[in-house]
Amino acid sequence: MAGPFAPPATALAPPAARPSAGGAGVITGSRPGSYPRPVTTSHDADQPGGEPHAQAPSAAEIEGRWEGQQVHFGEEGGRLTYGSYLRLAELLDQQRLESDPPAHDELLFITIHQAYELWFQQILHELTTARDAMAAGQLWWAQHLLGRVQVIERVLVGQIDILETMTPQDFGEFRQRLAPASGFQSVQYREIEFVSGAKDPSFVKRFRGLTAEEEARLAKRLEEPTLWDAFVGVLAAAGFRTGSEDEIRAALYKVARDRSSYAAIWELAESLLQHDELAAAWRARHVVMVERMIGTKPGTGGSSGAGYLRSRLDLRYYPLLWGLRSTL
Ligand code: HEM
Repeated sequence: MAGPFAPPATALAPPAARPSAGGAGVITGSRPGSYPRPVTTSHDADQPGGEPHAQAPSAAEIEGRWEGQQVHFGEEGGRLTYGSYLRLAELLDQQRLESDPPAHDELLFITIHQAYELWFQQILHELTTARDAMAAGQLWWAQHLLGRVQVIERVLVGQIDILETMTPQDFGEFRQRLAPASGFQSVQYREIEFVSGAKDPSFVKRFRGLTAEEEARLAKRLEEPTLWDAFVGVLAAAGFRTGSEDEIRAALYKVARDRSSYAAIWELAESLLQHDELAAAWRARHVVMVERMIGTKPGTGGSSGAGYLRSRLDLRYYPLLWGLRSTL
C-alpha cells in the first residue's frame, strides 16, 4: 500500500500504542478466523494485543484535576482507560485498504462490513443464550434477548442506507481488488442462519478458504439444537404433542387461539417470527442495493450476483409459524 493510511479516528488512540501497519493486505484483518468470542474476558491471555493491560497508565496519568474537580478515571485501581478497555488501538488498526492509490470509499466499505461482523457476533451471543434459556424453561429471558436481537437487526437493515451513499463509479475504483472475497464467505452470517433453523450443510462445502477453526464452528452449529428445536421443546414442556409437523401445527393453533392460557409461548412465537421477518427484510434490502451497485454483473464470490441473491429471498426459518397465519 502506498503511504500509511490513517483512519479518521486516529486521535482517539495514543500513537505510541498503535501497532505498526506491517503486513497490510487482507480486508479480513490480521487474525482471520480467530475472532474474539464474546465470552472471553480481559483477563484471558489470548486477547488481541498480547499481554493484558501492558500499557496501563500510571496512577499519576489517570488522576488529576478536570475543570476544577479532582477526578479519578476508571475503576479497579485505575487499571483501565476508555481506550484500553475497548482495545481501540487494535480495533482502529484493522481497516487496511487494498486500493493503491487509496480509493476514498474503501474505508466506508471496510468499516461497514466490520460493523456487521461485530453485530453478527452479538446476535449469535444473544440467539444461543435465548435458545438455551428456552431449553431451561426461562421463557422471560429468551423473550428479552430475542427483543434485543430484533433491535439490532433493524440497525443492520438500516445500515444499508449508509452503503448506498457510495456510487457504483466510486465502488468500481476498488471492487476488482476484492475478488474473490465476498460477503458470501461470512462465517458468522451462516452461523446465524444455522442457529436460527436454516441448516444447510452444502454452504460449508461452498466456502472458500475456511480456516480449521471456522470449519469447526460451522460443523458445531450444524450439530447443535436450533432456536426452533428449543421452541418445540417449550411446546412439549407445556404438554403438547410435538412428534410430527401436524402435531406441532395443532399445538401452534391451540396457542394462538388461547392466548390467555399460553401468553408467554405466543409471545415467543411472535418473536421468532419477527426475527425471521427481519432476516428476510435484510436479504431483500441487500439484493436491491446490490442491483443498484453492480446491476447484473456477477458477484466477486463467483455467483451470478443478484440472480443468486434473489433465489434466496423465499428462505424462511419457521415455515410452520408462517403457515399458521393461513389457518387463523
Ligand atoms: C457494495 C456493496 C455490496 C455488494 C455489491 C454485494 C454483493 C453481493 C453479491 C453479488 C453476493 C452474492 C455472492 C457473490 O457472488 O459474491 C453477496 C452475498 C452476500 N453479501 Fe453482499 N454485497 C455488498 C455488501 C454487503 C454487506 C455490507 C454485507 C454485510 C455483511 C454483505 C453480506 C453478504 C452476505 C452475508 C452474502 C451471502 C448471502 C447469501 O448467501 O444468502 N454484503 N453480496
